[in-house]
Amino acid sequence: MSEANLPFNEKVYVNKDKSSTGEKLKQEWEKSINNPLKFWAEKAKAIDWFKTWDRVLDDSNPPFYKWFSGGVLNITYNALDRHVKSKKKNKLAYIWEGERGEVKTYTYYQLYREVNKFAKALKDFGLKKGDRVAVYLPMIPELPITLLATVRLGGVHTVVFSGFSAEALADRINDSGAKILVTADGSYRRGKIVPIKNNADQALQNTPNIEKVIVVKRTGKEVTMKEGRDHWYHETLTNAGASAYVEPEPMQATDPLFILYTSGTTGKPKGVQHGTGGYLVWAYWTLKWGFNPNEEDIWWCTADIGWITGHTYNVYAPLSLGITSLFFEGTPDYPAKDRWWNIIEKHGVTILYTTPTAVRMFMKFGEELINKHNLSTLRLLGTVGEPINPEAWKWYYNVIGKKKLPIIDTWWQTETGGYMIAPLAGIELVPLKPGSATYPLPSIKAEVYNEKGETVDVGVKGFLVVKSQWPGMLQTLWKDPERFKQTYFGRWPNIYYTGDYAVKDQDGYLWLLGRADEVLKVAGHRLGTVEIESALVSHPAVSEAAVLGKEDPVKGEVPVAFVVLRSDISPSEELRLDLIKHIRTTIGPIATPAAIAMVKRLPKTRSGKIMRRLLKAILTGAPLGDISTIEDEASIEDIKATYEDLKRQLEK
Ligand code: WTA
Repeated sequence: MSEANLPFNEKVYVNKDKSSTGEKLKQEWEKSINNPLKFWAEKAKAIDWFKTWDRVLDDSNPPFYKWFSGGVLNITYNALDRHVKSKKKNKLAYIWEGERGEVKTYTYYQLYREVNKFAKALKDFGLKKGDRVAVYLPMIPELPITLLATVRLGGVHTVVFSGFSAEALADRINDSGAKILVTADGSYRRGKIVPIKNNADQALQNTPNIEKVIVVKRTGKEVTMKEGRDHWYHETLTNAGASAYVEPEPMQATDPLFILYTSGTTGKPKGVQHGTGGYLVWAYWTLKWGFNPNEEDIWWCTADIGWITGHTYNVYAPLSLGITSLFFEGTPDYPAKDRWWNIIEKHGVTILYTTPTAVRMFMKFGEELINKHNLSTLRLLGTVGEPINPEAWKWYYNVIGKKKLPIIDTWWQTETGGYMIAPLAGIELVPLKPGSATYPLPSIKAEVYNEKGETVDVGVKGFLVVKSQWPGMLQTLWKDPERFKQTYFGRWPNIYYTGDYAVKDQDGYLWLLGRADEVLKVAGHRLGTVEIESALVSHPAVSEAAVLGKEDPVKGEVPVAFVVLRSDISPSEELRLDLIKHIRTTIGPIATPAAIAMVKRLPKTRSGKIMRRLLKAILTGAPLGDISTIEDEASIEDIKATYEDLKRQLEK
């Protein structure tokens, strides 16, 4: 997104309410900045601790900050046991709708029983505190149950999005050193069965650490079960016994909770590690501040639990708050393009939290499908994952929100654990601006820097940084503290570098402008260009590759690849299809390039660096700028010659 056309001056007063001055929000923010220790000591009381912390924040070894050190807790006690001991015992924790329309509900008590049974099963398989469990499951109830059962025992989960390939799964299993894998016999995708157990089996050929594989029967499709290693999930529950109870393991606040792999600027995904106490406190408060869900709400976060949004806002935040969440297995357009509106009407969803890509897709589908449904239960709308363009924002506000519902645009990252910049319905809702995530949350001192690390003027685009600490910040990168330091605190010492561009307007509102590094957001999914390049060059026909993002009206951006073939290989449609297949099997379908150009050479500097800036300019038709450092000018003509072909592929 370019900052030139942003509506800096357009204020939207929801329900024409002009009473908000922002004063209350400002006071809360100042309190948190002036005395963070006091502020968080107070907030952390929302969590049940087995033992209170010794220090709210141990900052003796930056950037390895330790929140609530000395504190002891178990997250599942907060997510389940404490509600089971209260009036919430028989309140719905989850409403689940399967792709085929089946509905299952879990009260807090039922969820507690399921989690205890599976925790007992995992314990019987030898899972101990600190052990890692890899999870490769579709959006079915067994997914949150597995996470909670793992964490009850003090295990560390690493969820691999079920759309990732066998190779991606094996890499993550090996890096995390998981000894148990939980998967399913298949998953449903637009009416078809995706054989994820086959993917898992393929991955398992190269994952020596895995001792046990637990398989959920979702589709009933026949799968191979390896004797001694593979066990059916439902049988493990039967063996555990219907009334199984497992004591929640007392965990240090600073013990790791989960590892979630996310793309960075190298070919190797980063294992973002979150801790127990700080993360939970942040998850709890960010959801409360952002949406202030109440006892009557039905909260629907549409994110897959394979990504951070699902971890925090489908599992840990709503359960620790004790609210009712809905989650859905399928896709928005199957069996019809009004599936979501159907779900909202059918279950009476009150808060919808989704992505700009989904909003833009529905814009394309048209209003008729929406107006067929009674969406009057909705009271709040949210977005996450990528910049929302003002046009999509307004459509969301007008058509879904009927000009009455606030749009809570939440900016954050896998690394931040929860919201960082967002309007806060739970404190004070400031006037909104279409396309702005408004102000930072309490504790977040966000600034926009230029290359030199100086704060830029109002209206000038720069790098978004955070100069403060907050409880939800990542602890480190799994087994790679050096990379953690370098990536996030290396550019400006002790200042968190987000990798995003942003601009602040005259009212202090922040506008997020996308990534400033080699990371793409494709339909809200985070992908590294270098990862896709590495996958391409691992194909025998390819000698070099450059991948970049191209703006897309629905998905925000899509990957476009330029490849140089080995000298004995000639370009062909067949090869193009084979390269696509190769990407799908090495990373997963989400990384499929929207277009691939086969070129003789790539524009490079004399020192051999690929000039991506130039590729991007050619791709978008922008001026080429300074090309004095180029090694071989003819490469530009080569690239230009592919323009029509790329356009044709992109239009498909
Ligand atoms: C982008 C997703 C603009 C941003 C929670 C960030 C956003 C990256 C927004 C993190 C938003 C997320 N407006 N951009 N509201 N939310 N982003 O780790 O570029 O999958 O750095 O976490 O998504 O992606 P991740």
